[in-house]
Amino acid sequence: MSAPTPPSSPRVRNARGSLVVAIDGPAASGKSSTAQWVAQRLGFRHVDSGALYRAATAVAIARAGEEFDEPTVLAGLDEISLRPAQQSFTPTWRRGEMEELIRAPEVTRHVSRVAQMDGVRQWVNAHVRMAAEGCDVVVDGRDIGTVVFPDADLKVFLIADPWERARRRLTQRHGRGPTDAEIADETERLVQRDARDATQTVQAKDAILIDTTYLTQAEQVERIVSLAGVFRGIGPVNGSEPRS
Ligand code: DC
Repeated sequence: MSAPTPPSSPRVRNARGSLVVAIDGPAASGKSSTAQWVAQRLGFRHVDSGALYRAATAVAIARAGEEFDEPTVLAGLDEISLRPAQQSFTPTWRRGEMEELIRAPEVTRHVSRVAQMDGVRQWVNAHVRMAAEGCDVVVDGRDIGTVVFPDADLKVFLIADPWERARRRLTQRHGRGPTDAEIADETERLVQRDARDATQTVQAKDAILIDTTYLTQAEQVERIVSLAGVFRGIGPVNGSEPRS
C-alpha cells in the first residue's frame, strides 16, 4: 500500500531565502490585479514594478512639467521610497501618497520614455530586489522573470488579444460596456504602447505562458496558484479564498 499523500508539500526555499513569483506581460494584460490577488491567496506581498516607473514619472512632471528631461527624472528618485504595507509594497513620495497621482493620464503618456532610462531601470530593480529580501513576493512587470529575478521560483507570462485587453481596460475605467468604436480607439493606443515597451517586455524561456483572452480573472488566479503548488509546493494560505 502506498503512503498517504501529505495535505500539502513543504515550500521549497531557494538560496535567497524568500520566494518570488514573477508575473510579466504587456499593458492591460491584467498583471497587476492578478498579481495582487495571487499574493493575497499565497500570503505573499505584492510588488507592482510598473508603479515605480510611474512614480518616477509623476515626480519628474511635478518638478518640471511634461517637458522634463532625464537629469530631472534622476534627481527626483531620491524623493521616492518603496514602503511595505500589510499586503504590498507601495511607492511613497516625500510629499505624501502617490496612488492616484501615478495613474494620471499625463503619467501614462510619458512613462514609456522614463522606462527607457537606464538609471531609472537600475533604481527600480534595486528597490524591487530589496523588497524581496525580507519576505515572499509576487512581482509584476515586463522584465521580472528575465532581468530582475532570473532565478524566480515561478515565472508566468500573461498575454491577451489586444481587442479584449482594450475592452477590459475601458470597462474598468468607465464602469460600463464600451462601444466598438471606443474599443477600436483604445486597441490602437494599446498596440502603440506595446511597441514603445517592446524592448523590455520579454518572456523568459522558463516562463509559463497563459493566454487570458477567454479566462475570467478568478480563473487566471487559480491557474497561477495551482502552478505555484505544482512547481514549488507553495500552497494558498487559510482564509484566502478568491472573491467571486
Ligand atoms: O504596467 P504599467 O502600465 O503600470 O507600466 C508602466 C510603464 O513601466 C510601462 O511603460 C512599462 C514600464 N515597465 C517596464 O518597463 N518594466 C517593468 N518591469 C514594469 C513596467
